[in-house]
Amino acid sequence: AIGRQQLAFIKELYGTRLRISYHAYVRREPAALLHLEPGRQDPYPIYRRIRERGVLAPTPLGNYVTASHAACDEVLRSRSFGVGQDGRDAQLSLLDLDPPDHTRLRRLVAPDFTSRKIPAFGPRVQAVVDDLIRTVPRDQPFDLVSSLAAPLPIAVITDLLGIPDANAEEFAMHGTRFGSALGGIQSIAHARELAATRARLAEIFTEIFELRRQHPQDDLIGRIVAANENSPEAVRPEEMVPLCTLLLIAGFETTVNLIGNTVLALLSHPDQWRLFTEQPELAEQVVEEGLRYDPPVQRTGRVAMSDTEVLGRPVAKGQFVMTALGGANRDPAAFDDPDRFDINRSNANEHLSFSGGIHYCVGAPLARLEAAIALRAIATEFPDLREAGKRVRRPGSLIRGIQEFPVLVPAA
Ligand code: HEM
Repeated sequence: AIGRQQLAFIKELYGTRLRISYHAYVRREPAALLHLEPGRQDPYPIYRRIRERGVLAPTPLGNYVTASHAACDEVLRSRSFGVGQDGRDAQLSLLDLDPPDHTRLRRLVAPDFTSRKIPAFGPRVQAVVDDLIRTVPRDQPFDLVSSLAAPLPIAVITDLLGIPDANAEEFAMHGTRFGSALGGIQSIAHARELAATRARLAEIFTEIFELRRQHPQDDLIGRIVAANENSPEAVRPEEMVPLCTLLLIAGFETTVNLIGNTVLALLSHPDQWRLFTEQPELAEQVVEEGLRYDPPVQRTGRVAMSDTEVLGRPVAKGQFVMTALGGANRDPAAFDDPDRFDINRSNANEHLSFSGGIHYCVGAPLARLEAAIALRAIATEFPDLREAGKRVRRPGSLIRGIQEFPVLVPAA
């Protein structure tokens, strides 16, 4: 049963003055379902319906949605598309910027995240994972998310940014709260809490900037501060807090869900789980198939900056194309038997879960490293892991993940 509130939500979303029933509307516009409960529970059949409507499915407002791998890939890589936001909004950073501002800031942080630099974090990641694994109770249920999946990326990104230990705990709390906004604002009280959180995070970052100015240090924040001191044109003062905030929540709210979603896929496919526990060295492959099968970031989108084409179909300047990354990953034109979870799939890494083109996830090597180490440890240490209670999905459908995941490790 669809309530008045949900209908109002769709109207707001699409800016349409609807005079038809919800059901008639969804028949005409399946992509709307992505934003509602069916999209949160299981978006994959919806992507199939969108694909059935064509490579570029038109929306009532004159935009497009695509769940085609080839079309998503082309849109994300095309120079004719951009994010089309006003870069002068001080709250925005990389994700919401077009060149040249995007290029300038990306150049500043990208060197810290390359696949050449990131493996050096392996021992640190392993140490955090070992610690977490040690504290997990045997023979009684625990929450996989709060005990393992969430604390790992928090510890790692806090380290990488160079957050002083004294701030680490408060930082983790605010970061988690702020990241929850990615699932959508739940209420006015939630919106107020987020504003306060954002303000407090900005305060902490500003204090750390000051600290680094007085005592330069070779960590990511230290380098951002130094770049600003050398040339205010490399990174403007007002860009520094949004950039650090983005790095923080992008690292918090995605990797946790990659670990959770992949463990769920493994436990739901006992043959794949058994295979993995017997060959934990498959961890990297498991991560790629986990990313493909149930990605933490389900969609993004771009605006045509000029009249252009996607796979030969015309798109006019100003039209928006929603790229359903989770749908692209299940496109039968790109993956054989795409709804099957197969950790031996040879081309799993062709997924679009980290997007593509200039906004390709800067944290991809780090996310892959963290997830591989965590999953390998789980498979090695807990081969008898099983579900032990009711799972709770996180709110919203843009970020897909499990919020509470009760599991049990039987005593040996
Ligand atoms: C961008 C996914 C982990 C930092 C993106 C985008 C996606 C994504 C889809 C691009 C969105 C778009 O094209 O509009 C993921 C997933 C992760 C993950 C699925 C984990 C499994 C991380 C980590 C970090 C990070 C660990 C680092 C701290 C960023 C940043 C951007 C980004 C800074 C913006 C890049 C730009 O606009 O140039 N991520 N991410 N991500 N990600 Fe990640």
